[in-house]
Amino acid sequence: MAEQRGRVLLADPRGYCAGVDRAVIAVERALEIHGAPVYVRKQIVHNKHVVATLERKGAVFVEETDEVPEGSVVVFSAHGVSPAVHEQARERQLRTIDATCPLVTKVHMEAKRFARDDYDILLIGHRGHEEVEGTMGEAPAHTQLVDGADDVASVQVRDPDKVVWLSQTTLSVDETLATVDQLKGRFPGLQAPPSDDICYATQNRQQAVKQMAADCDLVVVVGSTNSSNSVRLVEVALEAGARDSHLVDYATEIDEAWLDGVSTVGVTSGASVPEILVSEVLDWLAARGYADVETVVAAEERLVFALPHELKPRRAALA
Ligand code: F3S
Repeated sequence: MAEQRGRVLLADPRGYCAGVDRAVIAVERALEIHGAPVYVRKQIVHNKHVVATLERKGAVFVEETDEVPEGSVVVFSAHGVSPAVHEQARERQLRTIDATCPLVTKVHMEAKRFARDDYDILLIGHRGHEEVEGTMGEAPAHTQLVDGADDVASVQVRDPDKVVWLSQTTLSVDETLATVDQLKGRFPGLQAPPSDDICYATQNRQQAVKQMAADCDLVVVVGSTNSSNSVRLVEVALEAGARDSHLVDYATEIDEAWLDGVSTVGVTSGASVPEILVSEVLDWLAARGYADVETVVAAEERLVFALPHELKPRRAALA
């Protein structure tokens, strides 16, 4: 057994959120019902391991619907798609299963409603992220992207009393509020979304990291580099006082040198990360003298989303 070198603080909640769980099950169910191949537009969730596992089961990941043979089954990812993508799928007679997270759909509905009421919409989010592309596609003529402080100065609106901000669901809560403050400096009449756009899972995972970061010499975040909420967890850990923090897909990516002089290691994972990958990190740390694990609880999560309606069993026809 390895000599004791320190302890682990394990964030709770971490890992899978309700939207990711639903999206992954949607692909698995689609494979059961329709058989392989089932096409998936973009990565179903932003996690290397999940994508590779589903590929082995017969999912084929494509970038756009024009790569899907006509008439085939295609699943839309948890990040959502624009109406134009639905239209392209209809033109190619694809059988679509929409695994967009209901909390992303909520933001789409807000965008549609404010556009209908002729508001200028300032969407705070990351340029090029799939979710942002999908949400902007709901009301392209009414929406401007605000990707951080640098974009604030260039925003132009038609009527400063008819402007609302919305956001990507997986941003840093603190950074977003700072951007909103800057926008309010330019547009004091700026309205807020009717309810939080940054989702419960993003907020809870950041809160758990904030609670433990100041006690950590190192915070290991399990997640992929294209996972927005996972990348934010590294930033939040450093801002909240962790001495060092790194993002890894797998335990094997941890560099032993990161443990030099470390007595407390924080561990968490992004919303698209299966728990098996966290267990492997804990085993890796235990083998190097960090076997003592204490959980830091920030919130209890019970939310479960129903599967996309295309996968629900149809009612038997009445006799
Ligand atoms: Fe949905 Fe939030 Fe997860 S928007 S997919 S619950 S990270």
